[in-house]
Amino acid sequence: MDDLELTPTFLPQQPGAPALVGGEVHVWAVPLQGDALPFEADLSPVELDRLHRFRFAAHQRRFQISHGATRRILAGYLGCAPKDVALRHGPRGKPYIDGDGPSFNLSHSGDLALVALASNELGVDVEKVRRLESLRQIAQRHFSDAEYAALKALDEGEQELAFYRCWTRKEAYIKALGEGLSMALDSFDVSIGEAAAFLACHDGREDPARWSMLDISPSDDFVAAVAVRQDSADVRRFLFEA
Ligand SMILES: CC(C)(COP(=O)(O)OP(=O)(O)OC[C@H]1O[C@@H](n2cnc3c(N)ncnc32)[C@H](O)[C@@H]1OP(=O)(O)O)[C@@H](O)C(=O)NCCC(=O)NCCS
Repeated sequence: MDDLELTPTFLPQQPGAPALVGGEVHVWAVPLQGDALPFEADLSPVELDRLHRFRFAAHQRRFQISHGATRRILAGYLGCAPKDVALRHGPRGKPYIDGDGPSFNLSHSGDLALVALASNELGVDVEKVRRLESLRQIAQRHFSDAEYAALKALDEGEQELAFYRCWTRKEAYIKALGEGLSMALDSFDVSIGEAAAFLACHDGREDPARWSMLDISPSDDFVAAVAVRQDSADVRRFLFEA
């Protein structure tokens, strides 16, 4: 198992201390390594049912830690026990807290999960960077014309990072809306460069000016983005400590 080396911008933090104020967006990095057992008691019957359906121990461990840590993080903001966080799911599966509480979203890839919170609707996506043979074909199929043209115009050595930036930004926006694969992926444009941006919405559903797109990549091995429906955002990054 590789050790996760995250950028020092993620400050070690136990759940409970930080309050979400103003336009802040909080992003918690949760390493999915180590002992998963302490988290089991915090999971709901539905989560335990999902947990026991995984065939491989590594998948069980990742699920147990990511969902257990999410409950602990949310409980810290709500001032309740992790087991008492009332999680519900939207029509396409997006989890949310019943009643008054922050918006949150979870993403995981490899041995890392990210949990993002804000007062407004948001989505997060993290992807572990791995070599993709068919990067250009995947982009042609899933990206908008403008995104694909921008990718093709880059030198080959720059395309991989740009691909992951574009992918995670698109996914973060889809997840903020609570949509899944049903959404037309070419109905909006995001940037593919270092500066994250929601550039255009072709179906008129959302006004990009009312959104913030944030690059929150936690290390050289992972690319990550948050999309939040607010026109500016102060990001605080935490490294989850149990
Ligand atoms: C859930 C979904 C929206 C994202 O899945 P993913 O990228 O494979 O996985 P992530 O780790 O980022 O997110 C999974 C988590 O998102 C949350 N989630 C589930 N459904 C969701 C939804 N409709 N909206 C937002 N979040 C959702 C859950 O917490 C889930 O965690 P769990 O599976 O452990 O319960 C997926 O169903 C999907 O449709 N993805 C679109 C894939 C695609 O073609 N992307 C192209 C981008 S160019």
